[in-house]
Amino acid sequence: MSLAKPYPNLTATEKILLNSIVEGDLVRGSRIGIKAHQTLGHDLNAIMTFLALESMGIEKVDTEVSVQYIDHNMIQADYKNADDHRYLREITSRLGVICARPGSGICHQLHLEHFGRPGKTLIGGDSHTVAAGGIGMFSIGVGGFDAAMAMAGKPLYITMPRIVKVNLVGKLPQLVSAKNIILEVLRRLTVKGGVGKVLEYCGPGVATLNVAERSIIANMGAETGATTSVFPSDAETRKWLAAYGREEQWVALEADAGAVYDEEMTIDLSRLEPLIALPSQPDKVVPVREVAGKKIDQVMLGSCTNTALGDVLAIANALKDRFVSPDVDVSFYPSTRTVIRESIRRGAYDQILTAGVRMFEPICGGCNGCGFAPGTEGVSLRTTPRNFEGRSGTKSAHVYLCAPETAVASALTGVITDPRALDIPDFAYELPDKFIDPGNLFNYPKLEGTDEIHYGPNIKPIPKMPPLEDQLNKPVLLKLPDNITTDHICPAGAIYLPIRSNIPEISRHSFNVVDESYSERAKASDGGILVAGTNYGQGSSREQAAIVPRYLGVKAVIARGFARLHLANMVNWGLLPLVFRSEQDYAAVEQGDLLEIDTSDLKEAEPVRVWNRTSGSSFYVDTPLVQADLDAIKVGGRINTVK
Ligand code: F3S
Repeated sequence: MSLAKPYPNLTATEKILLNSIVEGDLVRGSRIGIKAHQTLGHDLNAIMTFLALESMGIEKVDTEVSVQYIDHNMIQADYKNADDHRYLREITSRLGVICARPGSGICHQLHLEHFGRPGKTLIGGDSHTVAAGGIGMFSIGVGGFDAAMAMAGKPLYITMPRIVKVNLVGKLPQLVSAKNIILEVLRRLTVKGGVGKVLEYCGPGVATLNVAERSIIANMGAETGATTSVFPSDAETRKWLAAYGREEQWVALEADAGAVYDEEMTIDLSRLEPLIALPSQPDKVVPVREVAGKKIDQVMLGSCTNTALGDVLAIANALKDRFVSPDVDVSFYPSTRTVIRESIRRGAYDQILTAGVRMFEPICGGCNGCGFAPGTEGVSLRTTPRNFEGRSGTKSAHVYLCAPETAVASALTGVITDPRALDIPDFAYELPDKFIDPGNLFNYPKLEGTDEIHYGPNIKPIPKMPPLEDQLNKPVLLKLPDNITTDHICPAGAIYLPIRSNIPEISRHSFNVVDESYSERAKASDGGILVAGTNYGQGSSREQAAIVPRYLGVKAVIARGFARLHLANMVNWGLLPLVFRSEQDYAAVEQGDLLEIDTSDLKEAEPVRVWNRTSGSSFYVDTPLVQADLDAIKVGGRINTVK
């Protein structure tokens, strides 16, 4: 990769950014604009993206590659999802976007197989877009509106992250696979520890991991709050590209010897043991042995993190000549059709089927509550990246996150089991030199002519956001704790996901896992203010989590802190974020208090006074935004600035 002269001693992250930065400079903590080489989207979030592109009058996307996947919302119990899929097929063809056929594979894995390129920038309408860091991309998850802007060729503005050197040394022991590395990172950093940072992996341990394994780690880096994760591009990356017939797309990428990092951590892979995240946060990580013996009801193998070829073969290896426990319902969601076909060729599918596992198509399915919800109070072990309350589809479920080896060992015994306690044969595998021909996975855009676009009755127009009033005088509708997720604000699950593009309908279910009366109360009081702890809005990229409160009349969220992606969505949709200055100020506000805020002249870096008319006190809060973002909020969000 050729570099501009005045930039010596660069990290791998900075080398990629140099190729896509269009505004600002590589100064950490400064605001920069980057242009996407590639974009990706999936059916759940992209309806809003394409509606935005249509309303902007965009006729063709302006990227090297844009790909639309259909993998999230797959249950066709009525017309809604089928209508969405048809709209996506038609609109992508019109705008020059490649569209994966439904069920071709889970977006992040499919992208890694066919489009991911080292040294490039990928902007995707999904928080786990960061999985492409495994192939040496700077990949970042955004909300649907920012995805639309990226597809239109507009820059994405981010704060140039601080860069953490994650030095991997040693080699993983048998039955301790890559998932345990990111669980260890989460144990150390927590769900807030990566905020404002890139996790850049290096060290001799990297060469022991293939691209799919690196992608597991990069994917779940999202759970630390990190902007993204980046791996070098090396011989393993080249091997991966060659296996998918794309070796000519390989470029080397690594940090300079004198690269400057903001923080460092070292993980000795040889000392890791099987780890597990307890319900209902991915950072509540303990060794499996500490919870071994707990009875389980369900195991879900799969998701974008854990069903690449190596995972499937490891699962088959553990299940060979065994049956899963009669007390445990076990499902398997493979990552892509190519992985399925290669696994069949190697006999792995037969071993998994014979053991008594339910086989699903290569989609998100159970991971987002669409197909494999646990029973009431069910204990479910999953290889997915998230275990937030209600995400599985069952509010009362107890979801643990672990590596496939732990999940499959537990499926065999019926209790949480350290896989090293079972007599599982040693396992190793190699990628094929070349995967079998991928077959019919993608629809390519038509070169000329545009067929009619069909909008199902469930696809409603984007709601209009009114400007922010100069004076807010509203009650606190909810007082929320730390780590409120987008799943809390706008629920996942088979009932709710199909109505995600229907804001009036989905808004009726907002915060239903917290307080079922919330949306009614919001309407009755003509909106209000939300108060929350740290890391408000963590989790997925779904912009509906910003749109729905605004639609219900909520004008501001005062929190101890915000997740990066959600903060961007709030700016796009005109929801004012304000940050408490102290724990005491947060503690002093009660649900139902009447707050008064003068928002007539919001200024970057200037505090805002909040009057609590119920308690008769006042406190100051900060605005975590630059002036351009505050101005956008005043007019009802960035959505109103580009129309
Ligand atoms: Fe899909 Fe779950 Fe990954 S919803 S993209 S498999 S986190």
